[in-house]
Amino acid sequence: MASTHDAAARGAQVLVASNRGPVSYTVGEDGSLRSKRGGGGLVSGLSAIGPEAGALWVCSALSDGDREAVRRGVGEEGVRMLPIPADVHADAYNGIANSVLWFIHHLLYQTPLEPAFDAEFRRQWASYETYNRAFAEALAEEAGQGAAVLVQDYHLCLVPGMLRALRPDLRIGHFSHTPWAPVDYFGLLPTDIRERLLRGMLGADRLGFLTRRWADAFTACCAEYVGGTGGTRIGVHGLGADADFLRERSHRPDVQERMAVLRGEIGGAGSGSERRRTIVRVDRTELSKNIVRGLLAYRQLLDDHPEWRERVVHIAFAYPSRQDLAVYRDYTAEVARLSAEINERYGTPGWTPVLLNLEDDFARSLAAYRLADVALVNPIRDGMNLVAKEVPVVSDEGCALVLSREAGAYWELGEDALVVNPYDILETARALHEALTMKPEERAERVKRLAAAATALPPAQWFLDQLTALRDLQPS
Ligand code: G6P
Repeated sequence: MASTHDAAARGAQVLVASNRGPVSYTVGEDGSLRSKRGGGGLVSGLSAIGPEAGALWVCSALSDGDREAVRRGVGEEGVRMLPIPADVHADAYNGIANSVLWFIHHLLYQTPLEPAFDAEFRRQWASYETYNRAFAEALAEEAGQGAAVLVQDYHLCLVPGMLRALRPDLRIGHFSHTPWAPVDYFGLLPTDIRERLLRGMLGADRLGFLTRRWADAFTACCAEYVGGTGGTRIGVHGLGADADFLRERSHRPDVQERMAVLRGEIGGAGSGSERRRTIVRVDRTELSKNIVRGLLAYRQLLDDHPEWRERVVHIAFAYPSRQDLAVYRDYTAEVARLSAEINERYGTPGWTPVLLNLEDDFARSLAAYRLADVALVNPIRDGMNLVAKEVPVVSDEGCALVLSREAGAYWELGEDALVVNPYDILETARALHEALTMKPEERAERVKRLAAAATALPPAQWFLDQLTALRDLQPS
């Protein structure tokens, strides 16, 4: 086996580390492995630097199929999946990352009862450390001398510090795709844990955030809990929508087919009747996305403005996410229940007020984007929210955007959106009415500016900027 020194001499020059990788595997009935590639900003970014850059993506094996692929030694070049034991991964991913860190950064706790940091929490935390250590060790093994390592997200907060100890020669970056919690809310975490998280991240040379607001929140937490950010630099990179990809992809035949089906479901296009309006939302069924209050606001709209009955349809696509967690399953059930209740109460033989779909279908999402008159993006809190950026780019007629002031995207799109407090149902209902009645000329003007702002920093450039900033750092 090669020594660490030999490996460093010929190892990768650019490394990305994230929980979810660019490819996943399933085992077919005949025992064969099938692979599926994902998308997103990192995938575009890595393809932009080209195969000759010697890049390596280190990620977790998430499914049984992924673990089987590792066992059989099957895999794509440039991707290393870590076969972290399923129970360790579940504790780290479901237990700590998604049930604690995600909740802290998105302000999701119902604080009279939770969080409760008990012995079970400590057990899961030990797994989170083990899981982070597995990444740090794999990166230390694979990285060439002085390589740039770009660690992603709240799953891997401890990696920068651990990796720094193993390989002081590396340039280490970390990027948060989530918001960062306000000081007092971050302070809910046990004293030693919040320090370990912050110090783990501060092991990086450079930390990236999606907006200035989240970067400032992180800095404030460091000032309060660990006496500052030390020599770590902090940068803001507001990931934008990929206009070229979206425009091309949304005009392919599979999207056209789904548009025809959706038009049929929307209905109301018979001779003599005016075209029905659409309010579109597309999300993971995610607590922070605020789908339930979105439905309540739509119901309020139908109450306050009966003239919209029969004339508007709410298309709500809410795709399964993190279904191992009971609270996500319950939330999904509530979304379904409330949609059914609205349809029951207001629906007529020729009009279904809410078209809810819980099955993930990218082509159908794009079809809905194209048909959108209004895009509803009302998260409680969101790192950026790319849907807010994508719909204005794709919508055929140019949509109006109803946008939460708590989404990172608000800082870039707020001026041309109808901005709402995500907790305020009545305000959201008023914004929906305003969006539906916006004059075509105004809507066209606004959507032009929204699309320009939304695509200002395409994914490849977003990634390259971070890589360049990391490589150009002078020692502090
Ligand atoms: C957020 C996180 C990402 C994550 C995504 C999907 O956007 O910042 O890191 O990949 O949610 O969540 P999942 O748990 O399915 O990977």
